[in-house]
Amino acid sequence: MINPTILAVPVFSPLCNLAFALRRAVFIDEQQVEDEEFDAHDLTATHFVAIVAGDVVGTLRLIETAEHIKIGRVAVAKSARGLGIGRQLMQHAMEHARATGHTRFALNAQHDKAGFYQTFGFHPVSDPADDGSGILHVQMRTY
Ligand SMILES: CC(C)(COP(=O)(O)OP(=O)(O)OC[C@H]1O[C@@H](n2cnc3c(N)ncnc32)[C@H](O)[C@@H]1OP(=O)(O)O)[C@@H](O)C(=O)NCCC(=O)NCCS
Repeated sequence: MINPTILAVPVFSPLCNLAFALRRAVFIDEQQVEDEEFDAHDLTATHFVAIVAGDVVGTLRLIETAEHIKIGRVAVAKSARGLGIGRQLMQHAMEHARATGHTRFALNAQHDKAGFYQTFGFHPVSDPADDGSGILHVQMRTY
């Protein structure tokens, strides 16, 4: 268990750019997802970074919609997994959203990660399906 520093960072700030590099390493290089990794939501999303010993080792983004807060692009560096960083990032980001009155969360989970998200109160609301990325996904919500 490691206690990272978790910060919300402005898009295109140096720390956010390191988070984008991490997303590229995880989703494009490691998982070879062919979907568009960066999209217009990045311009308006709230981006979080987890920092350990000066390195950005985790990230996720929150997108506000009329229905809920959508959590996405949850990634921890391969060398830093299994140390509690993903859990602390999720908890921090959800607390941040709750502090501004948001109570409903949604995400599109890789099927084999559904168990991870269930521990934060998410349940599946769709059947597993390939969303075009080549990886089975399931839609999950907290409500
Ligand atoms: C999924 C991911 C973010 C988890 O981050 P992490 O820092 O390794 O997770 P943690 O160490 O905080 O684990 C927290 C808990 O979730 C559990 N967990 C981790 N990955 C899991 C999985 N795939 N399925 C079920 N449980 C999982 C851990 O066992 C741990 O449980 P514990 O607290 O009872 O010990 C990380 O594996 C990752 O970046 N994977 C590649 C990118 C990816 O697939 N992102 C998700 C896209 S939907």
